[in-house]
Amino acid sequence: MIFRKEKPVVPAVNTIFENALAVLGKEAQGYTIRPARMEDIESVIRINREALPENYPRAFFEDLFNSYGKSFFVAEAPGGEVVGYVMCRVEYKPGFFKTLLVKSGHIVSIAVLKEHRGRGLGLGLMAHALKSLYENYGCSETYLEVRVSNTPAINLYEKLGYVKIRVEKQYYLDGEDAYIMARPLP
Ligand SMILES: CC(C)(COP(=O)(O)OP(=O)(O)OC[C@H]1O[C@@H](n2cnc3c(N)ncnc32)[C@H](O)[C@@H]1OP(=O)(O)O)[C@@H](O)C(=O)NCCC(=O)NCCS
Repeated sequence: MIFRKEKPVVPAVNTIFENALAVLGKEAQGYTIRPARMEDIESVIRINREALPENYPRAFFEDLFNSYGKSFFVAEAPGGEVVGYVMCRVEYKPGFFKTLLVKSGHIVSIAVLKEHRGRGLGLGLMAHALKSLYENYGCSETYLEVRVSNTPAINLYEKLGYVKIRVEKQYYLDGEDAYIMARPLP
């Protein structure tokens, strides 16, 4: 099912970034969003296992860190604990909004520990990732997969200007469908 192919009107990445910083300044005082370091991988794996059924071997996280480290961010709580992450991959693929091959920033995984949700960290992590995918990797689009039942994540992505492109039937191992969502950059 194709939802749309025309280029949507979306908020600019810089606007999203400034807005995210303002939200974090109000709702997440003392928290930091910063580029991930290799020593964060342990915490990232733990958060991934706690928050999502889609888990991966350590080498998968390390490969993304080594290859696309500039778009791998973590959220650090006031005490220094890593409580969220976003990791991405840069791919050449047919564009969702252009027929040509484009450089697309794939949001591979994002999660925030339950007790730290609802204060703008998901928004902040995504804003950092989008800005970096555009500025550091020259991506002209970004896309992701999300469970059709994952309302919090879908709302977050729509707030960031992602639109539903199509449904990928039985995308997940348990049989649930995914929405493919994408937006142009910047
Ligand atoms: C999705 C997730 C990363 C959001 O993180 P978060 O830090 O709680 O998100 P934020 O506080 O930055 O919220 C940003 C926006 O997301 C949406 N959102 C977040 N939580 C929501 C909820 N419980 N219900 C509905 N919308 C929600 C809202 O649009 C919100 O904006 P608003 O506060 O102006 O309403 C977090 O819920 C999570 O880790 N979930 C488990 C892992 C997961 O599902 N990852 C995505 C896989 S595709």
